[in-house]
Amino acid sequence: MTIAVTAVSGQLGGAIARALIETQPDQTIIGLARTPANVGDLGVEIRAGDYGRPDQLCASLAGVDTLLLVSGMDAPDARIQQHRNVIDAAKSAGVKKIVYTSIQGVEQGTAFSPVVQSNRQTESDVRASGLDYAIGRNGIYIEPDVEYIESYKTRGEIANSAGAGKCGYTTRSELAFAYTSLLTNDIFNGQTVNLYGTPITQSQLADYLNNAFGTSLVYREMTPDEFIADRTVELGDFIGPIIGGIYEGIRQGIYDTPSDFQAVTGRPHQSWEEYFSAL
Ligand SMILES: NC(=O)c1ccc[n+]([C@@H]2O[C@H](COP(=O)([O-])OP(=O)(O)OC[C@H]3O[C@@H](n4cnc5c(N)ncnc54)[C@H](OP(=O)(O)O)[C@@H]3O)[C@@H](O)[C@H]2O)c1
Repeated sequence: MTIAVTAVSGQLGGAIARALIETQPDQTIIGLARTPANVGDLGVEIRAGDYGRPDQLCASLAGVDTLLLVSGMDAPDARIQQHRNVIDAAKSAGVKKIVYTSIQGVEQGTAFSPVVQSNRQTESDVRASGLDYAIGRNGIYIEPDVEYIESYKTRGEIANSAGAGKCGYTTRSELAFAYTSLLTNDIFNGQTVNLYGTPITQSQLADYLNNAFGTSLVYREMTPDEFIADRTVELGDFIGPIIGGIYEGIRQGIYDTPSDFQAVTGRPHQSWEEYFSAL
């Protein structure tokens, strides 16, 4: 079987490709990248894969049986068409199965909802494609909170609008493990699964960071509007409200739902004790 992974120049696509290369020595793995020069040394064939270029996508998917589509980063409306380009190219090229990395969240009521809506539209497009499929709804990556540690130290606190809400975080390497299973096991065909670990509060997150980095961070609750304004100053008009909207969703309990990670992989998601103690 030949398995292709899109966006292998990115962190999630790269992690999935590496997990496949490591665990599936009998399969042929191909990486697709909009910017092949951004791909590190994966040791597999890399083909051009710009979601905005249908002809290029079709040519690059020749001979591929199963495709992992990593969701893009463009504005929600642009993303929908880009993902359709990939799905249509997969159909034209004779791909048999598509696995899509979607996102957890609600379609209405937060500043993140437009992004969730675009992911839900792509889910519908994948289901309507006529191809075999599996869809993963990813939890929120925990790595950015670790990468943000110096800023947290400077501030002495984690301040956001999540309040007492719990968030089902995950890591890209755990997602890579789960997607390897969705790509290679047909028992998940036709399913949409939630992929994340045990949900935790922001106060618990502060405790884990304090244990890992010897800090004394405390958690401070902000209102959703305050936090969106705070993030927009630092991250700009597009990403700021998206981040603010995610925390609004955590506050509403949207990210505190059962995960299918163990059913998909055959083992529990890595615990947060284990993750933070390994940092
Ligand atoms: N669950 C979460 O918490 C969370 C957080 C952020 C994002 N996400 C979603 O998860 C996806 C993967 O995350 P990541 O950590 O791997 O992000 P990342 O490291 O920033 O990588 C993004 C990848 O998307 C590629 N890409 C962007 N636009 C493209 C296009 N039009 N055509 C083809 N490739 C394109 C980039 O290629 P280039 O090298 O050419 O730039 C890069 O390989 C994101 O794209 C986003 O949809 C999830």
